[in-house]
Amino acid sequence: MSMSSNELHTRELARRESQSLSGGGAARQAKHHQQGKLLARERLDLLLDPGSFQEFDQLVASRATDFGAPSPEQRVPGDGFVTGFGRIDGRTVFVFAQDFTVYGGSLSATNAAKICKIMDRALEVGAPLIGLNDSGGARIQEGVASLGGYADIFLRNTLASGVVPQISAVLGPCAGGAVYSPAITDFVLMVQGTAHMFVTGPDVIKAVTHEEVSKEDLGGALTHNQTSGVAHFMADDDRQCLAQIRELLSFLPSNNLDDPPRRPTNDPIDRADAALDTLIPASSDQAYDMREAIRAIADEGYFFEVQEHFAPNLVIGFARLNGRSVGIVANQPLHLAGVLDINASVKGARFVRFCDAFNIPLVTFEDVPGFLPGTNQEWGGIIRHGAKLLYAFAEATVPKLTVITRKAYGGAYCVMASKHLRTDCNYAWPTAELAVMGAEAAVNVIYKREIDTAADPAAERQRLTQEVRDRFASPFPAAELGYLDAIIRPRDTRRRLIQSLEMLQGKRSPMPAKKHGNIPL
Ligand code: HXC
Repeated sequence: MSMSSNELHTRELARRESQSLSGGGAARQAKHHQQGKLLARERLDLLLDPGSFQEFDQLVASRATDFGAPSPEQRVPGDGFVTGFGRIDGRTVFVFAQDFTVYGGSLSATNAAKICKIMDRALEVGAPLIGLNDSGGARIQEGVASLGGYADIFLRNTLASGVVPQISAVLGPCAGGAVYSPAITDFVLMVQGTAHMFVTGPDVIKAVTHEEVSKEDLGGALTHNQTSGVAHFMADDDRQCLAQIRELLSFLPSNNLDDPPRRPTNDPIDRADAALDTLIPASSDQAYDMREAIRAIADEGYFFEVQEHFAPNLVIGFARLNGRSVGIVANQPLHLAGVLDINASVKGARFVRFCDAFNIPLVTFEDVPGFLPGTNQEWGGIIRHGAKLLYAFAEATVPKLTVITRKAYGGAYCVMASKHLRTDCNYAWPTAELAVMGAEAAVNVIYKREIDTAADPAAERQRLTQEVRDRFASPFPAAELGYLDAIIRPRDTRRRLIQSLEMLQGKRSPMPAKKHGNIPL
């Protein structure tokens, strides 16, 4: 008895689906597992809410006809990329996962088109886009068609920027121009030992510059989290990395027109933490950990730090205040006395712009002695890089709150979300010191003659320094001018911030009409 076309097609569908699921075959999958990596679909299972994934284009096959193109037997349905949509904590997300077992996860014209399809859909419906990258780059057999595919993706990354959150996990190789897609996205996560990102690899570097460097040192997770600032999170393995993505998304809205999800909390609004009253050391030069202040104020003491290992003199990350997601930007006196340098400025600026684009209020904790002096910084362009942070804070229209815990000196006072940059609520602890510069430096400028001609110059310097400190290094002149809205007791900070956020919920802050600004890049 002959089979109906229905039966035939159902059988053929099952055959192709099974072929797609086997990817590059059992041997390559085993090798992949041996390297400590999960397969593309295993990754999606862990990333998404159970049973929520729906695949698109599982049967799309390579159309390559060039020399070396896959034979009909090698034309794996899906062409090595798994794309589709699913849910994370009940919210829709679009995802792609590169299957390294199929031509090394390399990008062909067809699987580039698959990615573009879900990127277009994510923009249309306003849902985050997540890429799980593990790829040998452009599929060599497809030549310029593959390069064109990359450029199609880069364009969509750019158009989606500021409209939907874009997250890139790097879970294997990511080299050549392929790195620019993650670079345009909002957050990059890397797995230690298996993830590598570089524009040119160790072999090319050796040939051109004669430098010898390992893959790990050149572009491993630690390098990009600590040295280059390309990555925002580092994980021990795929599992942890995928959990980090879920966690990150819990702080973010689905798109630029939504608010971030609110998480109910039992943490009282008026919880007063007496330890905050003594957090600031008696001596102005002594360090303390600003993260202690952040945790004491945040719901359940929880702070989700971003770029923890890069420019640690500025701390950034997400927390919740009475269930609302906020972006925290804080000077960190534990590192370089919390000074602003090039890396800290760039790190802070990009984070501020992300929060502003996605309706996440900004809370700034300030203890900054100024910008880092030195030829290194000046020749490296601290002027234009520092200006980025200034520009980002000035431009931001989300609710902005600032708490000055101790130092707010010089230009850094202006930059760190001062009242003058349209910050809505500026608070200071009684320990705050707002001044043009530290008292020691100030007396050298304004009392140089008095000190030089004094009978006892050292004693005179000490007396004048104390006088200047008493007169200028306090929050009171700024409060008298209205640059501070209130001087608050540290233990009341949580309540004051939450009440301010509630007040600002309906904030509207218009911008002059323009195509776009020209941030000093
Ligand atoms: C086609 C590729 C491939 C590629 C790897 N494969 N890269 N096939 N195009 N780009 C295939 C291999 O032939 C092999 O097939 C399988 O994937 C696994 O590769 P291996 O080399 O065995 O794996 P491994 O030892 O783990 O090394 C992984 C690798 C290496 C480091 C990624 O394969 C490699 O260096 N690939 C080339 C990387 C590269 O130069 N790409 C172009 C970058 S430039 P079999 O059948 O043996 O399993 C670029 C431009 C983008 O991407 C521009 C955007 C603007």
